Amino acid sequence: MSRLGTETAFEVLNKARALEGQGKSIIHLEIGEPDFSTPENVVEAAVDALRKGWTHYGPSAGLPELRRTIADYVSRTRGVEVSPEEVVVVPGGKPIMFFSMLALIEQGDEVIYPNPGFPIYESMINYAGGKAVPIPLREERDFAMDVDEMALLITDRTKLIILNSPQNPTGGVLQREEIEQVAKAIGDRNILVLSDEIYSRLQFEGQPFSIMQVPGMQDRTILLDGFSKTYAMTGWRIGYGVMRADLAAQITRLMTNSNSCTASFTQMAGIEALRGDQSAVGRMCGEFQRRSEAFVTGLNGIRGFSCRMPKGAFYVFPNIVKTGWKSKPLADALLEEAGVAALSGTAFGQFGEGYLRFSVANSMENLHKALERIDHWTKQNL
Ligand SMILES: Cc1ncc(COP(=O)(O)O)c(C=O)c1O
Repeated sequence: MSRLGTETAFEVLNKARALEGQGKSIIHLEIGEPDFSTPENVVEAAVDALRKGWTHYGPSAGLPELRRTIADYVSRTRGVEVSPEEVVVVPGGKPIMFFSMLALIEQGDEVIYPNPGFPIYESMINYAGGKAVPIPLREERDFAMDVDEMALLITDRTKLIILNSPQNPTGGVLQREEIEQVAKAIGDRNILVLSDEIYSRLQFEGQPFSIMQVPGMQDRTILLDGFSKTYAMTGWRIGYGVMRADLAAQITRLMTNSNSCTASFTQMAGIEALRGDQSAVGRMCGEFQRRSEAFVTGLNGIRGFSCRMPKGAFYVFPNIVKTGWKSKPLADALLEEAGVAALSGTAFGQFGEGYLRFSVANSMENLHKALERIDHWTKQNL
């Protein structure tokens, strides 16, 4: 258990709530979830499903109709041929990380993963007994991976490479050429790719490109996607993986051993989410872009902060080196003294030092208020 890490966002949220309990005003920019409500048609589909009795166990891999719907959706959005046998429905995107690492990693296997990156990657690699090999994401490359550097990290023990685009926490995006280079670096080695595309519908410019689309890579890719971010459904707990059918069968056995199945009425809502009106997705994406632009502009006017515009997702990741503060003490001080909850860049790994992560999944009014508070705090303390 000592090898298992955590997700700091939940800890900071608890601390912020405790401060609020003492009467302090806190602006919450720590947690990574859309502030919008789930689209009404999806809520209605779930209510309808509950009334119709979708309240029982279902197949561990997911309801056949949802697996078919996901297979169609992924075939359409990634331009590949996916069959329902290659789809496993799970309670959120996270279980795909958890299960695929449990299933694949043997003692000493190496896994290359982005750093700064979603903290559960490193946690699960270590927990499963693997060796976590970070690929640093650098600001000067707009937080895209340096594929030449990554290629040098590949050894005979490399089992898995994790990609995430658009990326949490940096908002970086991998371009088609970079992804093709990753596939080239892998060559014909027996290496799988876990492609975390949970923010793929929240990319501000250009079309997202999946490594699945590179000829020869579909069989070696585990696609992670889900409903949490795209349809503002974080609390519903539903996501999925797309992978070779033989691997999908093993992940399904892990589902049988852990959850039995994903909630049936939630899956019925998932069908509506993918098949129904998609206008809410575009609206939310546009709003996240607008807020990111406003928040980045505001931060760039604050002493010691400099920030690039993210290319997707709903996070802003400013460089704070010129404040003279380390990331964790600065995040703590902003929470306790300025009433703004953010995360230290180091919550996303060692290469997150020198940065903070703000989630812009809050109203424009609160974002402006947060900027004023940070500005005021820096003027008093720097
Ligand atoms: C990069 C990334 N992948 C996966 C997830 C997990 O999503 P879910 O809530 O569907 O488990 C998150 C959630 O923050 C994330 O940021």
